[in-house]
Amino acid sequence: PSGLLTDTRGRPLRDLRISVTDRCNFRCSYCMPKDVFGKDYPYLPHSALLSFEEITQLAQQFLAHGVRKIRLTGGEPLLRKNIEALIAQLAQLRTVDGTPPELTLTTNGALLARKAHALKEAGLTRVTVSLDALDDTVFRRMNDVDFPVADVLAGIAAAQEANLGCIKVNMVVKRGTNDQEIVPMAQHFRGTGIALRFIEYMDVGATNGWRMDEVLPSAQVIARLQEQLPLVPLEPSAPGETAQRWGWANASGQHDATLGEIGLISSVTQAFCHECNRARLSTEGRMYLCLFAGQGYDLRALLRGGASDEALASAIAAIWQGRADRYSELRASLPHGADSTAQRIEMSYIGG
Ligand code: GTP
Ligand code: 5AD
Ligand code: SF4
Ligand code: SF4
Repeated sequence: PSGLLTDTRGRPLRDLRISVTDRCNFRCSYCMPKDVFGKDYPYLPHSALLSFEEITQLAQQFLAHGVRKIRLTGGEPLLRKNIEALIAQLAQLRTVDGTPPELTLTTNGALLARKAHALKEAGLTRVTVSLDALDDTVFRRMNDVDFPVADVLAGIAAAQEANLGCIKVNMVVKRGTNDQEIVPMAQHFRGTGIALRFIEYMDVGATNGWRMDEVLPSAQVIARLQEQLPLVPLEPSAPGETAQRWGWANASGQHDATLGEIGLISSVTQAFCHECNRARLSTEGRMYLCLFAGQGYDLRALLRGGASDEALASAIAAIWQGRADRYSELRASLPHGADSTAQRIEMSYIGG
């Protein structure tokens, strides 16, 4: 296989997001609302999950098609038992250029203080931590399991100490819930070397009761920040990046690198599908081509049916080459409710 695989819209395959568990210890209302994800929720049984060997074998075939970055997600990926062992296996793999893949993970940070060193040691390149507020009351309300913000901040500090690369913090902004935290969050992380990203609340899955009036458009986030502190737009650091980058400026309006940068992820108001280079592998081994896809392709069946590496690689290639997804670009033109929300997969299953 070559690294030149493209889909029907000319988009290459560069990013692989692997969900390693559909479970989470938080119940963020925009992702796993308590009334749906209660005690009786039918999570996947252990036998359904891809083993570390299976994940590694599949990841290798994705790398052969040009993937450069692997991100582990969940649910909460640090809940997967012995995740360090998987990281160590993935760190042995190589991209088509012969270099190690960038290996990262998106976590809620609850277990990070305990695990940061082991993750680094296993070969994780960097880490992204979700954090929706600094105010403890707001934070506890958002995770809905009364988890204290101090423990997540301790996790971020541990990741810094462990030298886990350029750390990013993700804040999902919900108008009327945590938008008052935008400026305090920005002030807190300015000058720390941590890149804070503001994410527009998305209509993923079918359970979060998404409403457009709870989305705060990124343009308004920038406007609120600019009232306090000057920002300047920065060039993308990689094609197909989710975030638009802005740098903190000095008195003369130039980016001051020592103050660092922020990002805006605007999938609702400024869709980035035209450059989307991400494939997703669900916890049970289905390949999804879009965060909003109704169905995936069962790679586990191929694997467990004894398919050779070549057969896996050509299956992945055929699936990618047939890809036409661009949900966020189409969202605006769809009549509300016309896209059968009921079929959409949940974020906790697909990993964002
Ligand atoms: P970096 O490599 O650090 O840029 O990470 P990332 O932004 O690719 O991944 P992360 O897990 O930090 O996700 C940030 C936000 O972007 C989350 O809300 C994701 O759900 C969302 N996101 C990631 N990829 C896509 C995508 O392809 N489409 C849409 N609509 N949202 C995405
Ligand atoms: N909209 C936007 N971002 C979301 N995330 C989870 N649910 C949503 C949603 N409905 C974020 C998490 C995490 C990332 C993987 O996705 O907070 O940072
Ligand atoms: Fe868990 Fe992350 Fe979903 Fe919150 S957003 S419930 S931390 S997977
Ligand atoms: Fe990619 Fe789908 Fe997100 Fe568009 S909506 S950027 S196609 S994952």
